[in-house]
Amino acid sequence: MNEPRGPILQLAGVTKRFGGLVVLDGLSLTLPRGAMQCILGPNGCGKTTLFNVVTGEFAPDGGEVRLGGRNVAGLSPYRISRLGVARKFQVPGVYPELSVAENIEIPLAAGAGRYGPLSLLGYRPDRVRRDRLLDLCGLAGKADDKVGEIAHGEKQRLEIAMLVARDAELILLDEPTAGMSGAETSAVASLIRRLRDEEGKSILVIEHDMNFVRQLECPIVVMVRGKIVAEGRYEEVSRDPRVIESYLGKRH
Ligand SMILES: Nc1ncnc2c1ncn2[C@@H]1O[C@H](COP(=O)(O)OP(=O)(O)O)[C@@H](O)[C@H]1O
Ligand SMILES: [Mg+2]
Repeated sequence: MNEPRGPILQLAGVTKRFGGLVVLDGLSLTLPRGAMQCILGPNGCGKTTLFNVVTGEFAPDGGEVRLGGRNVAGLSPYRISRLGVARKFQVPGVYPELSVAENIEIPLAAGAGRYGPLSLLGYRPDRVRRDRLLDLCGLAGKADDKVGEIAHGEKQRLEIAMLVARDAELILLDEPTAGMSGAETSAVASLIRRLRDEEGKSILVIEHDMNFVRQLECPIVVMVRGKIVAEGRYEEVSRDPRVIESYLGKRH
C-alpha cells in the first residue's frame, strides 16, 4: 500500500443503510500503520458491517474508506484483498484433511502466485517462513497433525497464521475467541500481540469479551448504534460513564 507514513486505514463519515435501518451512522476511525485497535460494542451495533465495508462486501452509502491513502469505497472484495487486506471469519477456514504445516504452506504458495490445495504439487514452500509461522501460532509441535483432529482454539490460531502467510498488511479479526476457554483466549491474545510487535502487522479486532480485550493491550474504540462513542485504553474506556451505561453496565 502507498504512502508508507500515513495511516493504513482511515474511515471518514462512513454510512451504511439496509432499507430504513441506518447501521453505520457517519462513522470515522483511523488505524495507524503497524498498530492494533479493538472495536468493542454490543450485538447488532454494526461491527461486522464495518468489516464488510472495509473488505468491499458492501459499498458504503456515504463517506470514504481509505487504505494506505487510497479511497477504496466501491472496489470489489477481490481487488481490496489484493491490496493487502485479510479477514478472519468466526468459523475457521482451514483444510481439515491436510496437516497443520500444509495448511500454512497453501497461503505461502498463494503469496507466490499459486492457489488452492493443489498448489502444493511441485512447489517447495519457504520452510523458514513456514516454521516461523508455526512457532508464532504455537503449533510447532503439531506440524504433522491432521487439522481435523486439533482443538478448536488451535484451529483458530492456525487460521490467523494462515492470514499472515498470505502476506496481508491489514488483518481484520471478527470475534476471534468465540467459543473458547480462558486458556485458549489467552493464547490467541498472545498470538495477536506478536503479530503486531514482531511481524509489524496492522490489526483491527472486533470483540465483546472484556477479559480478552484487556489482554490485547491496545487502544479501544467503543461503538454503539453505528457510531464511535468513546476511545482510549482499557482502563479509561472501562471507566467511561457512556460505556458503562451503554454496554459494560449489562455485564458487571
Ligand atoms: N446484509 C444485511 N441486510 C440487512 N440487514 C443487515 C445486513 N447485515 C447486517 N444487518 C443488520 O445490521 C445491524 C448490525 O449488524 P452487524 O453489523 O452484524 O452487528 P454486530 O456485528 O455488531 O453484531 C443488525 O441489525 C443486522 O440485522
Ligand atoms: Mg458481528
